[in-house]
Amino acid sequence: MNTRTPVSPQLILENLHSATVVVDDQLCIEYMNPSAEMMFHISNHRAYGKSIHELIVEEHEFFDRLERSLITRHPYAVYEANLTSHTGHKLAVDYMVSPLEHRQPHASMLVEFVSMGRHRKIAQEAHLLSQHEASRSLLRGLAHEIKNPLGGLRGAAQLLERKLETEADKEYTSIIIREADRLQNLVDRMLGPSNVPQKSHVNIHQLLEHTQQLVQAEVGDLIFEFDYDPSLPELFADESMVIQALLNITRNAVAATHEQGTIIYRTRARRNYAIGHQSYSLVAQIDIIDNGEGIPENIREKIFLPMVTGHAEGTGLGLSIAQSLINQHGGLIDCQSEPGNTVFSLLLPLENGHE
Ligand SMILES: Nc1ncnc2c1ncn2[C@@H]1O[C@H](COP(=O)(O)OP(=O)(O)OP(=O)(O)O)[C@@H](O)[C@H]1O
Ligand SMILES: [Mg+2]
Repeated sequence: MNTRTPVSPQLILENLHSATVVVDDQLCIEYMNPSAEMMFHISNHRAYGKSIHELIVEEHEFFDRLERSLITRHPYAVYEANLTSHTGHKLAVDYMVSPLEHRQPHASMLVEFVSMGRHRKIAQEAHLLSQHEASRSLLRGLAHEIKNPLGGLRGAAQLLERKLETEADKEYTSIIIREADRLQNLVDRMLGPSNVPQKSHVNIHQLLEHTQQLVQAEVGDLIFEFDYDPSLPELFADESMVIQALLNITRNAVAATHEQGTIIYRTRARRNYAIGHQSYSLVAQIDIIDNGEGIPENIREKIFLPMVTGHAEGTGLGLSIAQSLINQHGGLIDCQSEPGNTVFSLLLPLENGHE
């Protein structure tokens, strides 16, 4: 005998990735699932009874088709449409409209939106992850190869130094030792943290506060603002690794604002979110936003690659290391930038993912 309780339709709707909206014969909203709430930045409760014209603006073709379908009772689908939401966001979506037959005589329709942008982004993110993995392993290989002879070089210089008699001669060996140490430092950073993450339950807001204090101690003039989602559950993560990633990103923001801008830490919970090809029911999104000059156009696409820098004195390792640390937690760092508004988003899964 099958003792399982049947899955409730409500549960299915709430976990669907596509944004699903039910409208009545006046095109007023009867229901929105959580994905639709996210897409239109409005809660089901607030949207209830509002006309769909209030969510999607100035899209005559969209409304014409809806009304036609209401009359003809024929379903239809539109691919790669560009709609504008009431918040001004551009929505690149596929949408499908299905009249709900059993609701006669009070006609209603199911409208599903699938974000195209999200598809493209998933492909892009998967590409970013694999590209990153490839460049990190190349870098690690190279760093290992440099490390061994470098140790020998430094040791030999030390031995030689003992045999030298004049201070003037010793100056040469001390240059070799000093430069070898500098290179050693660089190579160590290239290798990155070798430890496996030591995970524990951590409060992301405490880690952000800690990072802010560290940075504020280095640079006094910065303004920090906080926009936290207090309902965000604890992360299961390596505390020092997450702090290191936050520090690397925040220090870049400090540099971009020439030490006198505003940095905002914002946290949000994202439901039904995909990171690369993995899908998660809950993901923590941590945004680090600055009002600095923005990422230079010529390096915007490759800032996560090692040795890519926009600064004369930069090593270009900060973001590559941060990305690697977050990848080790199954997460991803994403970035959007224009002058005056740069957003680095850390996406960290809050549970195990599925393909
Ligand atoms: N918030 C930001 N605003 C503008 N540009 C940024 C920002 N974050 C990163 N960048 C650009 O990306 C480049 C790469 O950053 P990354 O942290 O990897 O290296 P870096 O800061 O140059 O050197 P380091 O290894 O010391 O961190 C920076 O040099 C900068 O040009
Ligand atoms: Mg940096």
